[in-house]
Amino acid sequence: MSTTLETTLAAELKELRDSGQYKQANELQRPQSPRTKMDGRDIVMLSSNNYLDLADHPQVLAAARDAIEQYGMGTASVRFICGTMTCHLELEKKVCEFIGCEAATTFISCWDANVGLMPTLAPTKEDAIFTDALNHASIIDAIRLSKAQRFIYKHRDLKQLEEMLNSPEAKGARNKLIVTDGVFSMEGDVADLPELKELATKHGAVLIVDESHATGVLGKTGRGTAEHFGVQDADTIQTSTMGKALGGSCGGYVAASQTVCDYLVQKSRPQLFSNALPPAVCYGSMAAIDVLMNEPQRLEKLRANTKHFRAGVAELGLKTIDGITPIVPVIVGETATAIQMQKALFEEGVFVSGFGYPVVPKGEARLRCQISAGHETADLDTALAALKKVADKFPESRA
Ligand SMILES: Cc1ncc(COP(=O)(O)O)c(C=O)c1O
Repeated sequence: MSTTLETTLAAELKELRDSGQYKQANELQRPQSPRTKMDGRDIVMLSSNNYLDLADHPQVLAAARDAIEQYGMGTASVRFICGTMTCHLELEKKVCEFIGCEAATTFISCWDANVGLMPTLAPTKEDAIFTDALNHASIIDAIRLSKAQRFIYKHRDLKQLEEMLNSPEAKGARNKLIVTDGVFSMEGDVADLPELKELATKHGAVLIVDESHATGVLGKTGRGTAEHFGVQDADTIQTSTMGKALGGSCGGYVAASQTVCDYLVQKSRPQLFSNALPPAVCYGSMAAIDVLMNEPQRLEKLRANTKHFRAGVAELGLKTIDGITPIVPVIVGETATAIQMQKALFEEGVFVSGFGYPVVPKGEARLRCQISAGHETADLDTALAALKKVADKFPESRA
């Protein structure tokens, strides 16, 4: 084809290739697991969100099979027409039991949960949304779909947030939402939840926390950021995913009051116009929550592994962001460097994904290492040895 569009796209792709920024998808040939097979090579997986190693857990798989037997492949309908199955109601009840919220509404992904939530609660220019500059892309796009006034505060800069909340435009706004990631996906740091709640209460705003990287990870029993800080309350709205710690398939939810969830069911566009979750995802995710609640040792292992790996990264003198979560970035600077380092690590039998602009700010490209409860100490030591070898060739990755 030789349309103008094709020519423009081909030129941009060439530019990405020439500048070493072209992303190549690797082929995973076994289930997602801390040791798996990719592109014909046995590797240590250090870049998946499979934090609790539940993606191929026998109990999760058995539950998914059972759901297919009982309910078939899918709903062939959106929820409100004829796509609400018993398994959806059971999953929503399980999420409430797990999170301790009044109600929950599921979506096909957390992306959809965010896109279905923020524009629905703050649709007009009389509304205002306050958002951390490093919030996930799904939050950025969700806010773009709303006509509300936008206030983007610097990452975790609560002083700037308060100044924005005090601005005359914000003071006169109708619905005010403060939106934050619980755990920031590229930094691995944790939102300042107690202070954010205080600001929300003081300024009559509702706090929305995207718990995608916190669910099953933070808090004594894995219930997330609120549990971590001991500040659970009924007013804060949570979104999260089943695509990470909770079995790693797909699906998301909004956990909130009954009123908010009832409103979403009536008004949220992805809820009204997109199919409901496949039954296998519902039962598989429910089983993942059961395993998490019944096997606290997984969370302990995840924490011990994270501590071991973070200590190793510090010892190697790599440029990182200190913290407590299993997202451990190694900052390398240029996107092309991150991609070259990813390739070199793969040659050493370790898969770590390199991220560059626009996923992270220009000049802050990084390798995002992610730890799982399923890693053995030997896996982490293999990964650290590989990082040392590769960092010796790329000194810009050192602090
Ligand atoms: C903070 C955050 N929110 C939302 C999502 C999207 O989740 P899902 O894959 O369920 O759409 C992600 C996925 O990377 C994420 O990191």
